[in-house]
Amino acid sequence: MKIDVLTLFPRMFNNFLEESMVGLAIKQNALTVNLIDIRNYAYDKHSKVDDYPYGGGAGMIMKPEPLYKAIMSVKGDRDIPVIYFTPQGKLLDQSTVNKYSQFDEMILLCGHYKEIDQRIRDTLITDELSIGDYVLSGGELPAMIMIDAVSRLQDNVLGDIGSALSDSHQDGLLGCPHYTRPAEFKGAKVPSVLLSGDHKKIDRWREKKALEITRKNRPDMLEE
Ligand SMILES: C[S@@+](CC[C@H](N)C(=O)[O-])C[C@H]1O[C@@H](n2cnc3c(N)ncnc32)[C@H](O)[C@@H]1O
Repeated sequence: MKIDVLTLFPRMFNNFLEESMVGLAIKQNALTVNLIDIRNYAYDKHSKVDDYPYGGGAGMIMKPEPLYKAIMSVKGDRDIPVIYFTPQGKLLDQSTVNKYSQFDEMILLCGHYKEIDQRIRDTLITDELSIGDYVLSGGELPAMIMIDAVSRLQDNVLGDIGSALSDSHQDGLLGCPHYTRPAEFKGAKVPSVLLSGDHKKIDRWREKKALEITRKNRPDMLEE
């Protein structure tokens, strides 16, 4: 999978792209991340990428021309997702991540300042996604979240894809408790069923616990 990231702050991605599962996915050629500095597409001698809002008000607006050129430099006339991260977008959830993980290529646009010019949203953006009901300074962290979430679903990135498929949200429930050695830690024992070797019983116990945790922390998921 190839992901083109359009940003004013490409250096924010430096360590992120080298570490953990994302770093591994890149090393294994399961993922290519192409960082594009929007400022390279500014056209005046000061490399200006923002300007005052028409109608007045606080904050600066990202100008349409550099955004248009930056997007078109990777998109061309191809029909690929161009995702703009915005708190006004549809909430990013696991089913959306699963969907995007199947694409061969997608473009992620990181906004900054007050907003991007609406005409880019109206003409070039195919999807608007939010990572939650709060406001960040820029779309770089949301883009990293998307890259992380889709990269771990690429073939041969996780040692066992079954691990990702049994995580929270894949089956509409939260995950269950997990334990590792030692069997007793500071007086707290691992539930005996997990030591029983009876896999049917273990599966039933895990399902029951997942349901309990979902009911306690996210009853809205059970209503759905
Ligand atoms: C300060 S925010 C702009 C918020 C915008 N004025 C609004 O009210 O919706 C700057 C940029 O950060 C990114 N951003 C901030 N919060 C986000 C969120 N919850 N989800 C996705 N992107 C977000 C977007 O790219 C946005 O253009």
